[in-house]
Amino acid sequence: MMELERLLRSQGFGSRAECRALVCAQRVRVRGQLCDEPLAQFEPDGLTFAVDGESWTYRKFVYVALNKPAGYECSHRPQHHPSVYSLLPQALLRRGVQAVGRLDADTTGLLLMTDDGQFVHACTSPRKLVAKVYEVGTRHPVDDAQVAVLLNGVCLHDEPTAVAAAACERLDDRRLLLTVTLGKYHLVKRMLAAAGNRVESLHRLAIGGLALPPGLSPGHWMWLEADQLGLRQDFRR
Ligand code: URA
Repeated sequence: MMELERLLRSQGFGSRAECRALVCAQRVRVRGQLCDEPLAQFEPDGLTFAVDGESWTYRKFVYVALNKPAGYECSHRPQHHPSVYSLLPQALLRRGVQAVGRLDADTTGLLLMTDDGQFVHACTSPRKLVAKVYEVGTRHPVDDAQVAVLLNGVCLHDEPTAVAAAACERLDDRRLLLTVTLGKYHLVKRMLAAAGNRVESLHRLAIGGLALPPGLSPGHWMWLEADQLGLRQDFRR
């Protein structure tokens, strides 16, 4: 059981005092009923509540998929573009939701965001070999030799060993489906450059077992449940 003001605080509605004020101002409903007692106790699991008419379900951790549009930076302090965090509701930001790895400002597609630090670690640890699948648009036509080079491994100047694509398939003259397991700065762009080509567009289609949900338009986000995160079961073992 959890006191309502503490429960609201855990869900990103402000400090304990701010949450108490919300409840006392009759701005909170729990399971459809107005509740103005900040210390009222509720079992948090699966609890639905509303703040100012907006409905929420209690979540110990949040996991969301964002379809990142081009022209957004994965930073809380963006330099040249708006931040991806500006696309999420305030309550998610206040509970400390972070991007799982970063995409470049011009890269589009699947970005996972969560406040579960262990999950971030499990997804980004180089030892876990989580597959990231990208559709890569190239400046020059891709030939078989370039595909072979990417699969065999390319030397990047700050990497001690050659970096190989886990999979690489030519979709057409200037489009590749490329899977990598590392998560390094500009990795795909640097790999393509090392293979003698150049990335013109980059779109992430999947992370681990999770594909970009087809109905999710650019700039929109959706909740993910634990069973959609193929990794989640593994990483807590
Ligand atoms: N590789 C890149 O070069 N950029 C990205 O945004 C992701 C992978």
